[in-house]
Amino acid sequence: MLKGKFIVLGVTGGIAAYKMPNLARMLIKAGADVQVIMTKNAQNFITPFTFETLTKNKCLTDTFDRNFTYSVEHVSVAKRADLVMIAPATANVIGKIASGIADDMLTTTVMACTCKKIIAPAMNHNMYHNEIVEDNIKKLKAYGYEFIGPDTGMLANGDMGDGRLVSEEVLFERILTELSHTKDLLGKRVLITAGATKEAIDPVRYITNHSSGKMGLALAKSATMRGADVTVIKGETKVKFPDCVEVVHVSSADDMYKAVMERLDFDIYVSAAAVADYTPKTTAKDKIKKSDTDMSIELIKTQDILSAVSEHRKDGQFICGFSMETENVLENSRQKLRKKNLDMIVCNNLNDEGAGFGMDTNIVTVITKDKEIPLPKMSKSEVADKIFDYILEEFR
Ligand SMILES: Cc1cc2nc3c(=O)[nH]c(=O)nc-3n(C[C@H](O)[C@H](O)[C@H](O)COP(=O)(O)O)c2cc1C
Repeated sequence: MLKGKFIVLGVTGGIAAYKMPNLARMLIKAGADVQVIMTKNAQNFITPFTFETLTKNKCLTDTFDRNFTYSVEHVSVAKRADLVMIAPATANVIGKIASGIADDMLTTTVMACTCKKIIAPAMNHNMYHNEIVEDNIKKLKAYGYEFIGPDTGMLANGDMGDGRLVSEEVLFERILTELSHTKDLLGKRVLITAGATKEAIDPVRYITNHSSGKMGLALAKSATMRGADVTVIKGETKVKFPDCVEVVHVSSADDMYKAVMERLDFDIYVSAAAVADYTPKTTAKDKIKKSDTDMSIELIKTQDILSAVSEHRKDGQFICGFSMETENVLENSRQKLRKKNLDMIVCNNLNDEGAGFGMDTNIVTVITKDKEIPLPKMSKSEVADKIFDYILEEFR
């Protein structure tokens, strides 16, 4: 995924520095060449040796180190870098960079880099909200530096607040998003529906299904990495969507229908949600239904979101549905494609081992008006990539 990419990971003197060997390991596993640069204070929290063992590169700490392959190290590293990430970034280093100070290996290299620079702040809540720090961040953003996080939650000293370093997984995803894919969806607005709807029976009970949201997440990640602006309308899911995705939370099929209808200005819509076809006609809003008296539930049909979207279709929009079947998979899916006037339908058979709800893999056939492409068992991320490959082929 990151083969051939040279990533500079700047580590500064914050307590969260202890998490960075894990990020370095994830990047190495993905094929990247990782050059760690530590500030002097970072070495109070973790040793360069840890990074050297993981990355097989000398961890740079000193601008005036007399290495024996002659090159001006900070300039040569800066020239090779595909991306610089500073994580954790202290209030101090943010202030130094914002003020043009280059007095150590990290700040000097950052100053010499022309590639994308991403800063992941981590500090105490009051430090993060100090007006000077806020101004420094604003200034760096204006100069094109990008920021990720911080998160809100329990901080190192036990206080609650803003200033937690975002997780290593989120940092890794961000680097992947920047470097791993060609940006063939750049400028495209992609709308994805994901997860399960919940149809309330009474204040306690509801009807739902087994959709985990994993396929929707894979689609959202793939589209994001390929440069799209992604909006996800999600029902109940067990997964967390990346920060750079706009997420709209809904509950019932009707909520999802309304949320989609308000967002019809997409270029590509992929429906990966499991939406209830039927919902209780009436919901007992503040009274629990008693099983001995009024437990019979009258169901009514919900809006067919896909059909409604294709009825409102504008020129150039692409609509892809998912079809989950247990029998006559291809035939039923072809019918849905025609009936709902879709451009593409991705079908799978719940009875196939390795396909369907909650799994990390899927086995699908992609059907368009004139093509049927059966795909072998693959991870949901690979399926998502294939779906966008085929969508782009159809678009051209
Ligand atoms: C135990 C401890 C934890 C610290 N954690 C942070 C932190 O999370 N964020 C921060 O901005 N500074 C933190 N500091 C203060 C920085 O280490 C200090 O500002 C230092 O000058 C930063 O140097 P550097 O930016 O060159 O690495 C911490 C200090 C100590 C003693």
